[in-house]
This record gives sequence, C-alpha cells and structure tokens, in this order.
Amino acid sequence: MNLKKIVMASFTAVAAMTLVACGSSATDTEDTSLSKIEEKGSLVVALSPEFAPFEFKTLVDGKDTLVGADIELAKIIGEELGVEVEFSAMSFDNVLTSVQNGKADIAISGISATEERAKVFDFSLPYYTSTNKIIINKADVNEFTDLDSLATASFGTQKGSIQEQIAKEKFTSATIVSLTSNGELVNQLKSQQLDAVVFEEPIAMAYVAKNDDLMLLDVEVTSSYSDAYAIAIPKGSEALKEKIDTVVKDLVESGKMDQFVQEAYDLSIQQ
Ligand code: ARG
Repeated sequence: MNLKKIVMASFTAVAAMTLVACGSSATDTEDTSLSKIEEKGSLVVALSPEFAPFEFKTLVDGKDTLVGADIELAKIIGEELGVEVEFSAMSFDNVLTSVQNGKADIAISGISATEERAKVFDFSLPYYTSTNKIIINKADVNEFTDLDSLATASFGTQKGSIQEQIAKEKFTSATIVSLTSNGELVNQLKSQQLDAVVFEEPIAMAYVAKNDDLMLLDVEVTSSYSDAYAIAIPKGSEALKEKIDTVVKDLVESGKMDQFVQEAYDLSIQQ
C-alpha cells in the first residue's frame, strides 16, 4: 500500500465518521413530530369519553358513537394533517400518561393546561375556559347553602383531575373521595353516599339537566389552577404544535369551538 492510498483511506474513514456524526446529531435535533404522524397516516388521540359535552358516547343511528366538542376538534385536526383520527378511550388518570409513553400522539380530553402539567407536556393554544362548580342533591338545599356549609362534607372528584387537587386544597376538613368514573360519582351523590361533586360548569350543568334530583350550587370554586382547556402534545413537538394551533386559533376566533360545545351540550341532555 503506498502512502497516498493510506492518506486517502484514512481521509475517507474520517469523512465517513464525520458524516455519521453529522447524521446522528441532525436526527437528535430534528423535529419529526409532524412527519412521523403523516408517514403513519394516523393520529392517535387519547381521551376519557365520560365528559359531556366534550367527549361522551351516545347512540347515533342505533350505534354507540363517540361525540362531543373535543371529537369535532380532533376530526378537524385530522383533516388539517391529512390523516385518520383514531380515538383511544381510557380512564382520565391514564390519558396524559399515554401521551408520555408514546401510546397516543396527543390527548384531547378537556385537559386543563396547568403549570405543573406544562413541565411534562407542551400545550396547544387554549380552546375553552371554564369555572369550577359544585353539584348537590336538591334534598340538601337548606343544608348546603355556601362553601362554609360544606366544610366537613364528603366530596366526590374524578381521579387525576384538577378538581381532585382543588377540593383537597380548598376543603381541608372535608372527606375527598376520588373515583375514575364520573358516572359513578354522580350515582354515589344521588344515593347520598357523597354530599357534593366538583365538576367544571358545562359538565355539572349537563348532569343537572339530566337528573331532576340534583342541583348546581350557586357559588364558584375559585382556584389558582388554570382552567383553560388545551391539547396535550409530547414535549418538543414544535411542528405538530404549529399545525394544531392553526386549527385551534381558527375555531376559537370564528366562534366555531363554542358552537361545538353548545351543540354537544344540547345533544347530551336530549337522551
Ligand atoms: N379539566 C379537568 C382536568 O384537566 C378535568 C378533565 C377531565 N376530562 C375528562 N375527559 N374526564 O383535570
């Protein structure tokens, strides 16, 4: 082997190593959040569909169907990305975890974009804002008149929700019962095993509209938590977030999002 060849060979080796190095550093920083979804042709959306008017199941033409404002939002995002939307239903306390471990691409589930959650996930622009309300039995109307009268009451909240944290922080002498199912919370309220349930206003209103024996307490449960709903996206998914935000911005500014909520609310109390 002559010298020239050795120089050439080592040059080629160095060049190859440099290429490999460049290649790997490029993929480390490259944002594949959008292209990954486009390539597989589907967007897996995690949600907990026991949350009318945002996501719930109802009979459409005799078939159990997922409906609600979040469902409409997800479908429009799917159209914008040019992919199929696959809904992955689970209990609410698993929704964010499934985005974290990559089983779902995003989560749309009436998720409040709190600072604590924002440490782990990116959030889209907010698409809906609500307040927290308490529902009680009409039979207890004289007993539970304000927040003070509920100081030692038993409260039901959904496991993993901010309402669970709010109730624990606000009613320190109360009993807080956390369940995965909202329907079960309402059943336990109706059978007097619970005194009160904390939900965001549209959810509380939907349950009250369907249950004659329940009522909304005319007080707001204020808290330091952000109650703006946003879509949870894996951290660092800039390209995907940009696309999603375009859709959210458009639906919020045009009033379409509020319209979806109203339509879904009307549908939810019909049956
Ligand atoms: N907004 C509340 C939260 O983020 C409750 C959301 C519950 N969503 C549901 N689909 N059950 O904690």
